[in-house]
Amino acid sequence: MSKLLHIDSSVRAINNLNPEHNSLSKSIALRFVDVWNDKRPKDEYIYRDVGVNPPEFITQDWIGAVFTPDEKRSEDQKSILALSDEMIDEVSSSDIIVISSPMYNYGMPAQLKAWFDQIVRINKTFSFDLSRGDFPLQPILSGKTLVTITSSGEFGFEKGGVREGSGHLAPHLRTLSKYLGVETTYEIACEYQEFGDSRHQASVANALNQAEVLASELSTSISTL
Ligand SMILES: Cc1cc2nc3c(=O)[nH]c(=O)nc-3n(C[C@H](O)[C@H](O)[C@H](O)COP(=O)(O)O)c2cc1C
Repeated sequence: MSKLLHIDSSVRAINNLNPEHNSLSKSIALRFVDVWNDKRPKDEYIYRDVGVNPPEFITQDWIGAVFTPDEKRSEDQKSILALSDEMIDEVSSSDIIVISSPMYNYGMPAQLKAWFDQIVRINKTFSFDLSRGDFPLQPILSGKTLVTITSSGEFGFEKGGVREGSGHLAPHLRTLSKYLGVETTYEIACEYQEFGDSRHQASVANALNQAEVLASELSTSISTL
């Protein structure tokens, strides 16, 4: 048995009265998860929609609580960190993480960034040691597989693409993923939403198909715990 953690982050719902308003990133992630759950019905599954229910932004008190040793934390500080503790537990106990994200202003939604800010935490998901020289941060978690599913209105954010320099979503996810303990990443991108033309239709179909194939392949190859 393994555990799949599924994080959605679009503010759009998956089913709207007008289907043109449906979130693409959530729909593609759902295709992946449906196939996964079908193939591995005994796996544990955790879901968070941080787009609709965003985690709180971190505060100065949050930082103060993080840097207070466990045994010295006040009840107030413990409650400030309760959500962070819970979400870190979800990450650390999972084997495969699916993160779906729209591109907002060339990066991730603030809601998803808030999730990462609550999770990338000293002595929980990374250690800090100046004896390591210029690279004092090291991830604590390991061995996880990440699937990122992104949707954008424009296109060409990939390496060599016409908007390579503006594509901050996938690179940011890649950089942060190591603090989730990710060792293997798969990326599925859907583009052209704002054009609404045949390129967009082809991109959606291709992303849905990739999600289905990847879920099918990974569900048989991932090690069972
Ligand atoms: C607030 C906002 C900002 C956006 N910024 C960008 C952007 O910078 N680049 C882009 O290509 N598309 C941008 N888009 C388009 C979305 O990425 C596109 O609609 C995507 O499909 C949204 O994901 P979803 O369908 O899962 O909701 C933006 C959309 C919104 C609502």
